[in-house]
Amino acid sequence: MAAPGAPSPRGLLLSDYVVSMPRPDYPIPGPVLPEIALAGRSNVGKSSLLNLLVGRKALARVSATPGKTRALNVFTWGGRCYLVDVPGYGWSKAGRQDRAAWRALVEGYVRDRTTLAGLVWLLDIRHDPSADDRAFGRLLAERRLPILPVLTKADQVTRSRREGRVATIAQVLGCAPDEVVVTSARTREGQEALREAVLAFLD
Ligand code: GTP
Ligand code: MG
Repeated sequence: MAAPGAPSPRGLLLSDYVVSMPRPDYPIPGPVLPEIALAGRSNVGKSSLLNLLVGRKALARVSATPGKTRALNVFTWGGRCYLVDVPGYGWSKAGRQDRAAWRALVEGYVRDRTTLAGLVWLLDIRHDPSADDRAFGRLLAERRLPILPVLTKADQVTRSRREGRVATIAQVLGCAPDEVVVTSARTREGQEALREAVLAFLD
């Protein structure tokens, strides 16, 4: 066991930006490694969670305006895998063309990418899964990908409400409450549990 306060060895996995993939079959320049995607509703906190996972403040760009991440942004993580920041769905201002482009990119990637080893599915702890979330869940079920449900923005609910929120969302997703990782990019809650669970995709 590490001494109290010592950095976890996993916290030392280096991470860097590699490329933005404009197409779902785009080859990543570099070694072939398993890919782990981070996906969810626009503004749910995907880029922030990626930064939390790798322990860097601003590797993936965090945006105040939803819908800023348009391509599949690829990052390394300690030479173990690639982390892929997936553009969000459910962006209210998106036009028909935006939606069609999103579908071609993200559905193509989730359905057909053979190097995709697992997907971190982000949901905001404050909200019940939306119709878009449930539609995305059906796409995931088709492919039978290993999924890690992660609740974001836990700092926004009180301790007393939290257990109920986790139970409600887990029920909609059809999983047990203890299969869901609760996180906050603001307080760094859940960082270590998130790392453990993501690395388990690679075992
Ligand atoms: P798009 O790429 O635009 O779809 O957004 P995203 O899902 O990557 O979300 P992003 O990480 O850009 O965060 C969106 C907003 O939520 C930003 O204002 C973040 O600061 C905020 N945010 C992200 N994570 C947390 C969190 O854990 N707690 C709180 N309070 N705010 C958060
Ligand atoms: Mg983003």
